[in-house]
Formats: sequence, structure tokens, C-alpha cells
Amino acid sequence: MYIIGGTASKTVAEDLSKKLGAPLAGTISKRFPDDEFYVRVVDDISGEHIIIVQTTYPDPNIVELFLLQNAVKESGAKEISVVIPYFGYARQDRKFENGEPISAKAIAGLIGLNADRVITVDPHKEHILKFFSTSAFSCSAVPELAKYLKKKDIDMVLAPDKGALDRAKKASEIIGCDFDYMEKTRIDGETIEIKPKKLDAQNKNAAIIDDIISTGGTMAKSIQELKKNGAKNVFVACTHGLFAGDAVKKLNSAGCNEIISTDTVQGKFSKVKIATRISPFFK
Ligand code: R5P
Repeated sequence: MYIIGGTASKTVAEDLSKKLGAPLAGTISKRFPDDEFYVRVVDDISGEHIIIVQTTYPDPNIVELFLLQNAVKESGAKEISVVIPYFGYARQDRKFENGEPISAKAIAGLIGLNADRVITVDPHKEHILKFFSTSAFSCSAVPELAKYLKKKDIDMVLAPDKGALDRAKKASEIIGCDFDYMEKTRIDGETIEIKPKKLDAQNKNAAIIDDIISTGGTMAKSIQELKKNGAKNVFVACTHGLFAGDAVKKLNSAGCNEIISTDTVQGKFSKVKIATRISPFFK
């Protein structure tokens, strides 16, 4: 067995290699002057089970994954597993309007063509796993995020909306604290109140947990409301930290005390590693 890390997921690939005791296969990659990608697998991987690790965000990383899959196939690998730490395009998981693509299905369909199995972390909705034309599985980073938060003296874990409640519940069980979700109540035509449904945030250390932080809008609103409700410290934690545009500024201006994400998307807030959640699939 060999592990190949794409440029978007080098740290996860290195961690997996250590955990599984499987070497990293050497690759050479570069961009041509016109920005097209080039990759070559330098080790002899013929007859081997190859695990390719690559997040499919942003777009150039999708093309890199396709090229890696093809390179591995052309090299005569016996079996190809694809680990996608963050599966981009998962939020367009259905047609919201006529004429739209089901983007998650379009990308998954192509990845599945050159894979015997796919593993991804906290997909936005589990049903997207059916879009891969091969066996696909998911795992969750929530236990790892919760282990990190446990050291922060957290009193309550919140989901930013009801749909994310299971995640908050799971984290609260590991931390050993209360959980709740932020509920929107329309007071009148112009006023919406957002606050924890049942718990009091007064003087509490609160952690808000979500699958994705993109523009930071969802989290920023929740932070503001928790602070308004008297929360002492507010931590925000997510699996996939995209931090688009001025997301970080938004979170800080809202009064966030710490931003935590995993290394599914590598960045300066990747404080939690996810390889531990992926390695059991290969043991
Ligand atoms: C939405 O359903 C997701 O779970 C996240 O809440 C959302 O993607 C966060 O986006 P943003 O950071 O742009 O508010």
C-alpha cells in the first residue's frame, strides 16, 4: 500500500502514512507556463493498493485529483482508494431551480470512474455519497473538534441552526456539557431574534460548531447573538474552514474568542487533525 498526497492535502497524507505504516509514493508536479497542471508518480506502484488524498477545493485541486487518479491507473495499481478530506461542491446537492446542475453529482460521478472506494469527511449531506459510482463512505471530524474544545472549559455547545443539532449533541457528549441550537424567532416585520432555544448563555463559555465556515456570515450572526445574551467567551469550530473573503474579520468583529478548524482545508486555523478518523477504513 502507498499513499499519494495531492498538493491540497499533504499534511493529511503524511499523517495517514504514519498511522498506516504505508510509505508516501513520490510524485513530481509543476504548472506549465499556461497554468495547466503536470504530475508524475515516480515510484513503481504497479500491483499496489494506492490511497490518493486530495481535497476538491478550490477548483484546480479537482483537476489535480483527476490527473492523479489517471496516473495511478496507468501505472497499473491494483486498487485505488480516494480520500477527499473536503468534498467541494457538496452544497449544490440538488436542483434548487430549474436548469441548475446537481454539482455534487457531476463531480462525484467523475471521481468515481477511477476509484474502487471513496472516503470523505463530514459531507454537507450524507446522501451525496450515493452520487459516487463506487462505494463511498464518510467519517466525522466532530470527535476530534470536541477533544480540542474539551480543553477550553466549554459550558455549552451550540448548533447555528436546528439542522446542525446532531453535530452539537455529539460534541457535547464528548465534552460533557449542555447542547442547544440557535433559534430564529420573528418578532415583527423588521425584527428577528436569534438566541439559544432553551439554554441561558449568561456568563457561559460557548462553542458553536458547524460543518463549514465559508463567508462567516452564519457564525458571525450567532456569535453576536450569544454575546448579546451575555456569553463570556465564544469559540467557533468547524470541520471545513474555507474562510472566503473577509470571513475572519467578520468573526473577529463579532467578538469571537477563538476560531478552530480541521486540516481538511489546510490553513492557519487548522488546529485539529483528521487522519485519526480516516485511518480505520484501511486497517
Ligand atoms: C449551511 O448549511 C452550512 O452548514 C454552513 O452553515 C454554511 O455553509 C456556512 O456558510 P457561511 O459561512 O457563508 O455563512
